[in-house]
Amino acid sequence: QVYTDNFVIDDDMIDQIFIPRENFTHKGTYGKTIIAAGSYGKIGAAVLATKSALKTGSGLTFVLAPACGYEILQTSCPEAMFIEGGNKNINNIEFQENTAYGIGPGLNTDPETEMAFLQFLKNYSEPLILDADALNIISKNQNNLKLIPERSIITPHPKEFERLFGTTEDSYKRLELAREKAKEYSIYIVLKDHHTQVVTPEGKVFYNITGNSGLAKGGSGDILTGILTSLLAQGYSEENTCLLGIYVHGKAADFAAEKFSKESMLPTQVIDEIGNVFLDLN
Ligand code: APR
Ligand code: MG
Repeated sequence: QVYTDNFVIDDDMIDQIFIPRENFTHKGTYGKTIIAAGSYGKIGAAVLATKSALKTGSGLTFVLAPACGYEILQTSCPEAMFIEGGNKNINNIEFQENTAYGIGPGLNTDPETEMAFLQFLKNYSEPLILDADALNIISKNQNNLKLIPERSIITPHPKEFERLFGTTEDSYKRLELAREKAKEYSIYIVLKDHHTQVVTPEGKVFYNITGNSGLAKGGSGDILTGILTSLLAQGYSEENTCLLGIYVHGKAADFAAEKFSKESMLPTQVIDEIGNVFLDLN
């Protein structure tokens, strides 16, 4: 089968998508983000996602995390407001209107977190970003997939994809399965890999060519969640959120690799390069 709806995400495409900041605007113009992430020992995931959301331009940014992360988050991300969602694990996800939610990094899959997250999904119908343990919780029961709001963006790495939808022979078959599932559940699937693929509910596939193996380190995925949630909050369409988000993430990593090497670059330094990506886009 030959597909005509496969695209490479190139600089021209990104120039078309990117919306520069206007002068006569205020923080309300750039949306509200809530990152729901972290658990005892994995508060770093919440820090990385929240910092990335801030650095990508969200107008108002909240981090919903367990109380054990309060001081860490208020110190490392002073621009973000803290919402307490439990003690050592998240056990409640507060609902706010007109807000982009990014849920999952470092959550863990404890029963109390599972209950809180599934309860939230049952009452929520706007597109959101789901990653990491949010996806692992969904994987526990096939019926959970139907709870994902239409046009949401999920960002599984290959193992998380397998847990959600089953194993496939090779990456070609995996992409085929992703096309099927994106359509069936009307969701965007960001298949994270060396060349990350975005699969849309309409069956289009976009390939990202930014990024490098310096990203093959724990914490890199948490950054992508923050970037995507921030773009969605700012009013980018779901498709453009995916395309611009993975481009920015990979490009920031390429800048970090030039400065520090693929070996030594840290996710924190990738976050610090997000600004240089926007300087080039403006
Ligand atoms: N080349 C280019 N990009 C890469 C490469 C590579 N060789 N390796 C990884 N990446 C990118 C991926 O495309 C993705 O965007 O880095 C990111 C890695 O994301 P994850 O696999 O989700 O890793 P991360 O989230 O940092 O892992 C921390 O979270 O998802 C859970 O179970 C996971 O415990 C793990 C934790
Ligand atoms: Mg991850």
